Amino acid sequence: MDLFDLTGKVAVVTGGTRGIGMMIARGFLQAGARVYISSRKADAGDAAVAELSEFGTVVSIPADVSQEAECIRLAEEVGKREEQVHILVNNAGATWGEDLEKFPESAWDKVLDLNLKAPFFVTRAFLPLLEKGASHEDPARVINIGSIAGLQPSAARTYSYSTSKAAVHQLTRNLSKELAPRHITVNAVAPGPFESKMMAATLAAAGDEMAKRVPLGRIGRPDDMAGIAVFLSSRAGSYLTGTIIPVDGGIAT
Ligand SMILES: NC(=O)c1ccc[n+]([C@@H]2O[C@H](COP(=O)([O-])OP(=O)(O)OC[C@H]3O[C@@H](n4cnc5c(N)ncnc54)[C@H](OP(=O)(O)O)[C@@H]3O)[C@@H](O)[C@H]2O)c1
Repeated sequence: MDLFDLTGKVAVVTGGTRGIGMMIARGFLQAGARVYISSRKADAGDAAVAELSEFGTVVSIPADVSQEAECIRLAEEVGKREEQVHILVNNAGATWGEDLEKFPESAWDKVLDLNLKAPFFVTRAFLPLLEKGASHEDPARVINIGSIAGLQPSAARTYSYSTSKAAVHQLTRNLSKELAPRHITVNAVAPGPFESKMMAATLAAAGDEMAKRVPLGRIGRPDDMAGIAVFLSSRAGSYLTGTIIPVDGGIAT
């Protein structure tokens, strides 16, 4: 189990207050890491801390990472408490669905600011702390949460969302090249359908149909997401960088 142990590691998860981010935060805590979760709403952060505390040390620092100044402030706040960061998960994300003819410009700005620009600016803001937590033998880890929507076209009218996810996959590849000599790995996880607020309406309307179309026959579970994040963050995952890993029950293939 030492291969997957995160004892002594410091992890930051944006959007860690619910959904996929919370699944990952719980996995890190159970593997022994200290975890910082961040989202816009302080009360959501407090509620998540109350829920997660039974698994280990978790701290909420509210920030709106769709603005660069907030990305910098988040890194500063973590830097006041920790000398180094070993794991950064860029998970906070949003979607927008609308007919092509009605799709507003604001839906491009909102979704790209959060899903694409934030992973870039958060990663840049955390680089000094990540470099302090990195070594040749045990690199620091950046995990970007992409989506299978960025791997294959779909009929969903989420134009800016799927584009943002394909772009975040490419950003992952680019940053992995640049940061490898600095002993930082950068990988992306591309989830299929998982239960969350973002997916609640879709799953309520067509969850059973959706599960039937998944080759493995079900929606993703919290452990499926915790598992890949712990793998990528632990000694087990130290020789991967620049990969885009679908965690989707086989949909993307
Ligand atoms: N669920 C799925 O099936 C699925 C599939 C593929 C990919 N994904 C990806 O997985 C990630 C998480 O999605 P989810 O399904 O867990 O969604 P979710 O339940 O809506 O959670 C989104 C999280 O991001 C936070 N957030 C939203 N806007 C923010 C901002 N401007 N700054 C900081 N935090 C912000 C939210 O908290 P606040 O509202 O408090 O800010 C919340 O913690 C996203 O990148 C999504 O695209 C999800």
